[in-house]
Amino acid sequence: MSEPKSKNITWHGTNVEKAEREQALNARGCVLWLTGLSGSGKSTIAYRVEQLLLERGKFAYVLDGDNIRYGLNKDLGFSPADRTENIRRIGEVAKLFADACAVTSTAFISPYRADRDQVRAICPAGTFIEVYVDTPIEECEKRDPKGLYKKARAGLIPEFTGVSAPYEAPENPEIVLKTAGRSVDECAAELLNYLIDKGFVTAG
Ligand code: ADX
Repeated sequence: MSEPKSKNITWHGTNVEKAEREQALNARGCVLWLTGLSGSGKSTIAYRVEQLLLERGKFAYVLDGDNIRYGLNKDLGFSPADRTENIRRIGEVAKLFADACAVTSTAFISPYRADRDQVRAICPAGTFIEVYVDTPIEECEKRDPKGLYKKARAGLIPEFTGVSAPYEAPENPEIVLKTAGRSVDECAAELLNYLIDKGFVTAG
């Protein structure tokens, strides 16, 4: 939806410019958008990155697929339209967190390229970092931390991503994170180094 349903609304600017906020908080926000299959490691890596950042005194927060579906998106299921709405809402929330200067990591399958591109489009240039958590389905299925692949193969979960629903891999992600054969710490360090390289986090 491009136009709001509400009429007679007026955008209210802030009293504090972005640069002033960044300076006051000594922080720069961004959206670290992890996308990949269920069981690929998105949440585990995102929470580890958050922990590393907090240990450095940085403002960081994770928005996680399963968790958000308990609250904000409890009215949504896994149909294509619901997944699109899921990502649209999360995209807006992530944008707000990043605007508040948090390094905001999101861990959603976000299977549709167009939905992810739409989030990129609403974020200020350079602040949306797409991370393709590139774990082959065979590996995800082997891990199967929640037993969902087993259920999906048995026909007990309809529209399960990678089994009976599509996953569209990113074509031009900022980062491709291969997880097979690597530790969570190695993967998290790769993301942290990227954030340092791009100036969202200071080294040390
Ligand atoms: S998304 O496709 O809309 O981005 P999201 O990341 O919010 O998905 O939620 C995915 C999580 O929901 C999975 O990790 C899994 O635990 C659970 N889940 C339950 N049903 C499904 C399903 N049909 N397809 C994928 N994940 C599912």
